[in-house]
Amino acid sequence: MSPFEPVRLSELPTPALLIDRTRLVRNIADMSAMAASAGVRLRPHFKASKCLDVARLQLAHGAIGFTCATMAEVAVLLDAGITDLVWAHQPVGPAKVAFAVRTGVTVAIDSVEVARPLAEAAQTAGRRVPYLIEVDTGLGRAGVAPEDAVALAGELAAYPSLELRGVLTHEGHLMTYLGDRTGMDNAGRLVGEVLAGVAGELRAAGHPCEIVSVGSTPGAATAPFVPGVTEARAGTYVFYDGNQVALGTADESRTALTVLTRVVSTKRDGTAIVDAGLKAMSSDASVTGSGFGLVVGRPSLAFAKANEEHGYLTGRDAKALRVGDPLHVLPNHGCGVVNMWSSAYLVEGDTAVARWRISGRH
Ligand SMILES: Cc1ncc(COP(=O)(O)O)c(C=O)c1O
Repeated sequence: MSPFEPVRLSELPTPALLIDRTRLVRNIADMSAMAASAGVRLRPHFKASKCLDVARLQLAHGAIGFTCATMAEVAVLLDAGITDLVWAHQPVGPAKVAFAVRTGVTVAIDSVEVARPLAEAAQTAGRRVPYLIEVDTGLGRAGVAPEDAVALAGELAAYPSLELRGVLTHEGHLMTYLGDRTGMDNAGRLVGEVLAGVAGELRAAGHPCEIVSVGSTPGAATAPFVPGVTEARAGTYVFYDGNQVALGTADESRTALTVLTRVVSTKRDGTAIVDAGLKAMSSDASVTGSGFGLVVGRPSLAFAKANEEHGYLTGRDAKALRVGDPLHVLPNHGCGVVNMWSSAYLVEGDTAVARWRISGRH
């Protein structure tokens, strides 16, 4: 990006995506310390920032590499020389298969249907593709049932062009434990135990299983601490967000990503219209069930409705808002919001000190 002259937030065009540097660095340092105290390697999910500047900070604080969801995320990191990557997605379709074979990143596999074309392409290219067996520990998304993992490993062992490295799960179902921190923590430990159990069964059946990888922000304080787990892949923790605050994973003082917006119209009684809409906030739902984000410091305001570039604020304090008033909105889900933007301002106090590129979006 072109050289950046520091600018006061009051001078920025809105809407603007802001990253608070102090909070970001604290979040990164604390998660690295947590992984170290659990005795696991930290492989953060890159989808949470899609920003190489953030990724380099994570590496500087001890991350071993990254988890990716998309081909574009993998490509961004490889182009930057960051090569220790897990592409935690099934590489399906000719383009993804060719990419997996060419790059040699570790992929996730949960079926023979996914494995066969990949194995054949790798065989033809004279290469081996490393993979993790994805295990469903409760999310109900991709992944084999824990009791089916050994059978799958047995079937996949027929393909010499595939190299089993271990097991992976994403305990995203922990997001459903709203208001139940004990339940969430117990579920996180259970995920670790189930996955470590699967790893033990694989080894007992003669399969290699060097990596036992759990991954989520709500599970970061529990699953990686289970004996036998070797790797943690939290991602959202870099910024946290409204959903993590609602779940109790972080308090609001840790949230590092906000959207700066301004009131642009107060013509409608009791409603203030701002210049942050769906294309600034994303339509990712709140775990609490409603709203497009939380207006920082104004809990009585509800961000109840949004069009593409307009947001509707209602509630007790909406009447007092004036055209031009600046507001910071905490996103429900930071990862979805980042994907809406091509850059974010890095902020110290009330000054934007850098503009960081966001890459690898769809
Ligand atoms: C496969 C995988 N690993 C890790 C993560 C990171 O989880 P979180 O966003 O809770 O930090 C995700 C999130 O979607 C994921 O899908």
